[in-house]
Amino acid sequence: LARGVTEPDLGERHVVVTAGGTREPLDPVRFLGNRSSGKQGYALARTAAARGARVTLIAANTTLPDPAGVDVVRVGTAVQLREAVLKAAADADAVIMAAAVADFRPAVYASGKIKKKDGQDPEPIVLVRNPDILAEISADRARPGQVVVGFAAETDDVLVNGRAKLVRKGCDLLVVNEVGERKTFGAEENEAVVLGADGSETPVPYGPKEALAETVWDLVAPRLS
Ligand code: CTP
Ligand code: CA
Repeated sequence: LARGVTEPDLGERHVVVTAGGTREPLDPVRFLGNRSSGKQGYALARTAAARGARVTLIAANTTLPDPAGVDVVRVGTAVQLREAVLKAAADADAVIMAAAVADFRPAVYASGKIKKKDGQDPEPIVLVRNPDILAEISADRARPGQVVVGFAAETDDVLVNGRAKLVRKGCDLLVVNEVGERKTFGAEENEAVVLGADGSETPVPYGPKEALAETVWDLVAPRLS
């Protein structure tokens, strides 16, 4: 189902896309982070804008240039990402959670730099759970008929894990990537299967992140109310 990029099938729609990866600070100079580059989220934002949508891009620690015609909101931590998503989602037709959200954050933030102490082992780092933003926005839609999309990188039994995660999260679509060499983190290309809550399964062949983004919008557009 190929569409021309100029077809404004998302015209008059507000879509929210998260991108990048959260960083959870330990002290003023250190954080727990992940390898997400934000490229897939930026591709989703660019393609949605090209299809006529008003786009809010919530960017966690990305270094990519702002896409033209897109509102960019910058965040650092999972808690900040949650605040920004809930605010932007209030009037959104679709929310795409492409960001890699840290599952845990340090239980304490040291306001001064953590120092070594002679002859002493380091203190263990205690972690606490972060809020599950995708599960929360799926369970509590800001608007009836709002379409919610998650992303998951899986290894091993990719489709079985993906299907279970879709149900657990309660979203409408889950884009499942198989993690492996050349795939996913920082790469220009991607391969995925998009699982639908209606049982649908849409394979997306190995290719540019833009192509996966277009397929996501092809699946979102007919689900918009
Ligand atoms: N996600 C989220 N909030 C979190 C963790 C994840 O909103 N605290 C979102 C991600 O943005 C992604 C989806 O949930 O769209 C799936 O992320 P993933 O890490 O695969 O899911 P988890 O439930 O954290 O499962 P796992 O234990 O496999 O990491
Ligand atoms: Ca996770």
